[in-house]
Amino acid sequence: MYAQAKDLRSLVGSEVEMRGWIASKRASGGVAFLTLRDGSGFAQLVCERGVLPEPEFEAAKMAFVETPALVAGRVALPEGRDRPELKASSIRLLPSEQGFPIGRKEHGPEFLMDQRHLWLRSPRQAACLRIRSSLEFACAEFLHREGFHRFDSPLITPTACEGTTELFELDYFGSPAYLSQSGQLYAEAGIAALGKVYTLGPCFRAEASNTRRHLTEFWGVEPEMAWVGAEENIAFQERFIRAVLAKVADEAAEDLAFVGRDPAALRFDARPFPVMLYDEALAMLGRSGRELAWGEDLGVEDEEELTKSFDRPFFIYKYPVACRAFYIEPDPADPRLALSSDCLMHGGFGEVITGGQRASDCAFLRGRIEEHGLRLADFEWYLDLRRFGSVLHSGFGMGIERMLRWICGIHHIREAIPFARTPSRCRP
Ligand code: 4AD
Ligand code: MG
Repeated sequence: MYAQAKDLRSLVGSEVEMRGWIASKRASGGVAFLTLRDGSGFAQLVCERGVLPEPEFEAAKMAFVETPALVAGRVALPEGRDRPELKASSIRLLPSEQGFPIGRKEHGPEFLMDQRHLWLRSPRQAACLRIRSSLEFACAEFLHREGFHRFDSPLITPTACEGTTELFELDYFGSPAYLSQSGQLYAEAGIAALGKVYTLGPCFRAEASNTRRHLTEFWGVEPEMAWVGAEENIAFQERFIRAVLAKVADEAAEDLAFVGRDPAALRFDARPFPVMLYDEALAMLGRSGRELAWGEDLGVEDEEELTKSFDRPFFIYKYPVACRAFYIEPDPADPRLALSSDCLMHGGFGEVITGGQRASDCAFLRGRIEEHGLRLADFEWYLDLRRFGSVLHSGFGMGIERMLRWICGIHHIREAIPFARTPSRCRP
C-alpha cells in the first residue's frame, strides 16, 4: 500500500512508500527538497546525501519538474512545523522530459487554456477539480437518500428543450438531430415509471456569448418529482443546496481552505432562503437605479446587483411566461406569470438553478410549442405524458460549474470544468 500525501499527518513515525510526480525542487549542497504531488495533495521529500545511495541522491538533485517518482522513507514532523515530511531512504525516478511549459511565472489565460491538459496539475486547479468531484458525489448521494433514481437521458435528441436559438445540430444519418440542452423532458417521462428521478450529465448550448458564466458544454443535475408543485419544489431546492454544500464543506475542507474559501461559508443557519417575486425583484432593481420593463428577463448585472442584498442563496419566483421555456405551468391566479423560479447565489454571483412546475394541459402546451417555433410532431411523445396518467410534477436543474464557481470563488467558469468548451475554444 502506498501512503497518500493527504494522510501523512496520521503516519508520523512510520516507514512508508509514496509515488507521484515532482512538483518542485530546491537543492543546495548535500540536500534536495522535492515536493511530491500524488493527486491527493502535496508532500515534502527530504533527500540527503549519505542517507540516500549516492546515485539516487544525484538523480534526485537533477530531477526535472513532473518526473514520476517512487519513494520510500520515514514520515517526520520537524519541531515547530505543522506539515509532516518524508525523509527519503530510497528514490526511483521514471523518465520524463525537461521543459514543462507551466512554470512559476505568471501565464496569460489563453496560454494556460492551450496547456489545459498540463495546467490541471497546478495546485489550485487540482483542488477545484477535487471539490467538483465532491460536489457531484454530494448531489447524487443526497438525491439517492431522498429516494431518487438516477435516470440517464439521451444526449442525441430530435428536439429543442430550452429554445431553438442555442442548438448544436448534427447530421443523424441524413436527418437533423441536436445535442441535448437539458435532460428534463426525458426525466418527465421517467417520473411516471420511477416516481422521483434525476439526470446528471452534459448539457449543450450553442450560445455565442463569451461570458464568465457560460459554457457551450456544461454538466447539469436535474431532479424531477411527481406529485410536487412549484412551492414545494422551491423548498426542496433549499434542502438540496443546504445538504450538498454541507457535505462538500465536510469532505473537501482542506481544498476549500486552499482555494481561499472558509468551509464555514458553505453552511447556513436556520433562517430560510428568501423567496421574492419577479415583481419585487424589478422594484428592488428600480430602487438601485436599474430600470427594467415588466416582462424583460434579468441580465447578469441585474442578478449581480440583487445578490448584494442577501447573505444566503435566494429565489426569484413567478417570472413572466414570456421569459420562460415552453413547458412551464402558468400561475392560475395570473396567467401572465409562470410557476417558475431561479435560485441565485449571494456574493455577486447569480443564477445557479432554474426550476418550475410543468404545464399539464395539452392544448396549452401545443400553443406554447408553436409559439416557440418548435415542430409539434416532434413533441407528440411529450404530449403523451399529459394524455396518459399525467400528475402534478416539478423539477429543477443546477449547473455544476455555476455552483462550483460560487463554492471556489472562481473568476471565470472555464476553470470549473476539466476541459472547458466555449464559443472560442474546443481544444485541447
Ligand atoms: O436555466 P436552464 O437553462 O434550465 C434548464 O435547462 C431546465 N431544463 C432545468 C430544469 O428545470 N430541469 O439551465 C439550468 C442551469 C442554470 O441555472 C445554470 O446553472 C446552468 O444550468 N446553465 C449553464 N451553465 C453553464 N453554461 C451555460 N451556458 C448554462 N446554461 C445553463
Ligand atoms: Mg435558467
